[in-house]
Amino acid sequence: MTGTVYLVGAGPGAPDLLTLRAARLLESADIVFHDALVNPEILALAGKAKMVAVGKRCGKHSTAQAFINKQLIDSARKHDVIVRLKGGDPMLFGRAQEEIDALVGSGVDVEVVPGITAALAASASLKVSLTRRGIARNVAFVTPRIGKAEKAGNWLDTAASADTVVIYMGAGEAAAIANALILQGRPASTPAAMIESASLSDEQWHFGTLAGLAELAGLVGTGPAIIVLGEVLRDRARAGSQLSEWVRKAG
Ligand SMILES: C[S@@+](CC[C@H](N)C(=O)[O-])C[C@H]1O[C@@H](n2cnc3c(N)ncnc32)[C@H](O)[C@@H]1O
Repeated sequence: MTGTVYLVGAGPGAPDLLTLRAARLLESADIVFHDALVNPEILALAGKAKMVAVGKRCGKHSTAQAFINKQLIDSARKHDVIVRLKGGDPMLFGRAQEEIDALVGSGVDVEVVPGITAALAASASLKVSLTRRGIARNVAFVTPRIGKAEKAGNWLDTAASADTVVIYMGAGEAAAIANALILQGRPASTPAAMIESASLSDEQWHFGTLAGLAELAGLVGTGPAIIVLGEVLRDRARAGSQLSEWVRKAG
C-alpha cells in the first residue's frame, strides 16, 4: 500500500468556501472520487487527476457503497494521493464511517479534511445564528432518511425537543415531517425556513411555520434543500414574510 485516501469536505457549493487544505489536496490528487452535488468549479481544481463520479442523488443512479469502498482500496494500491470528495462535511450524513472502516480494515492510510456543512451555510445565508442567548442553547442536525435494512432512528424525539433543528434530506417529505413533529408536540406555529442551494448564486430561502412546511417545500426547485426550525428564526421570518408580501404587492 502506498497511497493515502483523503476524505475531503467540498463544503456547501461555493468554491471559495473550500478549505485551503482541500484545495491543495485536489491540486495534487492523482484520482478523485466525487459526489454528484460537488460544484464543477471545485472539481476543476483537480487539474491532473482522473475523475470518477460516484454520486448519489435522489432517484438517480448511484454507485453501491461496497463498490465505492473497493474502488478506494484498489486505488490506494495504484496511486499516492486519492481524494474522496464529499459535499459539505464528510463526517455528517455522508457514510464516511463505512469508507473509513473499509480502508483502515484493508491497511490503507486515511485522513479526513473537514468541510462546511449545509446547516452552517444555511445559517450564514439566512443571517440567523443557530444558537441565541435565552432562546436556543442547543442545535440538532437530523435526517428522517434511513437506508435499506436500517432501523428507524429517534430523529423525531430529537427534532421535537431541540431548540433549533436542522433537517437534512427532508424537503421531499416535508408534509410527513411536519405532521409527525406536530403530533410529537412541537407547536404548529414554530418558525420554519427552507433553504435551497445555500452559498450558491441561485440560492433561495423561504420562511413560514411548521404547519406550512409542505408549502415551503413546494417552492423548492432542483437544488439540494435543507429545513431549519426554531424560535431563532422568528424575527427573521417575520421580516422575510413582510418583504415577500411587499414584493408581491409591488410586482
Ligand atoms: C447526503 S446529505 C450530505 C450532507 C453533507 N455531508 C453536509 O455536511 O452538508 C445531502 C443533503 O444535504 C443538504 N444540502 C447539501 N448541500 C446543500 C446546500 N448547498 N443547500 C441546502 N442544503 C444542502 C440537503 O438536505 C441534501 O439533501
